[in-house]
Amino acid sequence: MTTQAATGSDFSWTAERARLDGLPGGGLNIAHEAVDRHAAGPLRDRAALRWLARDGSVHDTTYGELAAQTSRFARLLADLGVEPGETVFALLGRVPELHVAALGTFKRRAVFCPLYSAFGPEPVAQRLTLGAGAVLVTTPRLYARRVAPVRDRLPALRHVLLVGADAADVAPEVPGGVDLAVELAARPPAWEIPPTSADDVALLHFTSGTTGRPKGALHVHEAVVAHHATGRIALDLREGDVFWCTADPGWVTGMSYGVITPLSHGVTCLIDEGEFDATRWYETLAEQRVTVWYTAPTAIRMLMRAGAELAREHDLSALRLIASVGEPLNAEAVRWGAEHLGLPIRDTWWQTETGGIMIGNLAGLEVRPGAMGRPLPGVEASIGRRDEEGELRVADGVPVMADDGEGGELLLRAGWPSMFRGYLNEDERYARCFVGGWYRTGDLARRDEDGWYWFLGRGDDVIKSAGHLIGPFEVERVLMEHPAVVEAGVIGVPDEMAGQRIKAFVVLAPGVNAETAAGLPRALLGFARTRLGAVVAPKEIEVRDELPHTRSGKVMRRLLRARELGLPEGDLSTLETAT
Ligand code: WT7
Repeated sequence: MTTQAATGSDFSWTAERARLDGLPGGGLNIAHEAVDRHAAGPLRDRAALRWLARDGSVHDTTYGELAAQTSRFARLLADLGVEPGETVFALLGRVPELHVAALGTFKRRAVFCPLYSAFGPEPVAQRLTLGAGAVLVTTPRLYARRVAPVRDRLPALRHVLLVGADAADVAPEVPGGVDLAVELAARPPAWEIPPTSADDVALLHFTSGTTGRPKGALHVHEAVVAHHATGRIALDLREGDVFWCTADPGWVTGMSYGVITPLSHGVTCLIDEGEFDATRWYETLAEQRVTVWYTAPTAIRMLMRAGAELAREHDLSALRLIASVGEPLNAEAVRWGAEHLGLPIRDTWWQTETGGIMIGNLAGLEVRPGAMGRPLPGVEASIGRRDEEGELRVADGVPVMADDGEGGELLLRAGWPSMFRGYLNEDERYARCFVGGWYRTGDLARRDEDGWYWFLGRGDDVIKSAGHLIGPFEVERVLMEHPAVVEAGVIGVPDEMAGQRIKAFVVLAPGVNAETAAGLPRALLGFARTRLGAVVAPKEIEVRDELPHTRSGKVMRRLLRARELGLPEGDLSTLETAT
């Protein structure tokens, strides 16, 4: 009925935890495992971070230097009166200060929450408010564009730690503003990590749901046990590796696998400040001798579009493993990798709530193109049967499991170390995620008779665009703030590159004249983009006389999507298929 990994017979999470050091006085702290223990040993002078700045310059930070910087950061927090358990937010691009802030926050036993730097002021304000952010680490430019316009809505924000060459000039004008570099330089590089329990909260990651506000998934220090184990089992990290996770640390992948996992293995992490560019990416892989590369299906598809010729022009011989995550990886992309990059792309599956990889085409094992893979050792997965309405079937308090080959909801037996431990201030919402000891992922999948899992779609209306999870409600709410809009429905429509693209349907307020109406889609695109940022804003807007509704009066996004895609309207539960 359920499947465990083929390779897991002698596996236990207890043994995985024993591979880590633990704090000298007992307990577990991510920063000790990721930095301090390496800084105290033979890896002290090894590059922990290699930052490829936008201007083309390359900057290394050794484990020893990272230990010193993160200790200074922890002391700064203490001096500012930031107490253990308080939340430190970061709104930064891909810069090493993000690593320093995250790990320094763990050293203070405070909670770190990264925000995606492409978010507009609305998503930023909403998350800072929900998380009662006391400290924000950001750049003067991001502050001016994303935070200053909403600062009056953030009374809890006491300190703004500014990063960058112009920080000193700008700091006096920002309430609570200081220049981070100056503050760090003024502090000693030593700091003793306070006693930390494996169950202390370390991270807050916001993720989008179908309705209402974003959910704040809480993760604890024990998660590092899963990060370390999955880094070895799924990604094959070894000493001496140069590891490149292309995900932005503003999202969970960039934090779990761009910061914590590689550093826990003592390898060198590449941080690439620039945006995607096929030629530059190949150059980076070749020149930096990247050995393990964790990327996303959208990026692979963009490389495919750039052509195999470009791949051939670069020496990719250092690469030992390529993996991807975040959205369906089509079988064709897996094979393209094998043919033109010299390695198949290994799909992995997980989500914000799981904290780390749960299912994957694991290192050293067979790859099945189009499949997400098999559960990792220590992870028990299953498929729950759904009724005609798409609800999970439950009998005697436990899910009814589907047969092999039958589509249903992907379930995971609760209890792995990186499992989220709550939704911020939403205990009931958290409790609803579990049934009879199983965590409900909300994804639809099937398992074949060999125990491989295949993605079928999402069980909800959340949109995945270029690997980013976007809540339709967040977009609808902003569109409805426009005086000419009375109602909005937002869906994802298929997009060759990004998987899905955000499309909005709007109903106009009575009395909007024809001339205004004609220019509205364009005006609304701009309106949404300014408030939401480029990633969350719709790419397309269509005016409708009315939108379909459920009996309770909510916009029926599934029906909008079915009609848009020309799908039968009968079965509205599984409209998306992966490959
Ligand atoms: C959702 C989670 C994965 C961590 C970063 C994003 C979708 C994830 C796959 C995959 C098809 C995938 C799921 C999942 N997803 N991996 N290999 N194949 N879909 O975390 O933002 O919480 O998104 O991404 O729908 O639930 P997230």
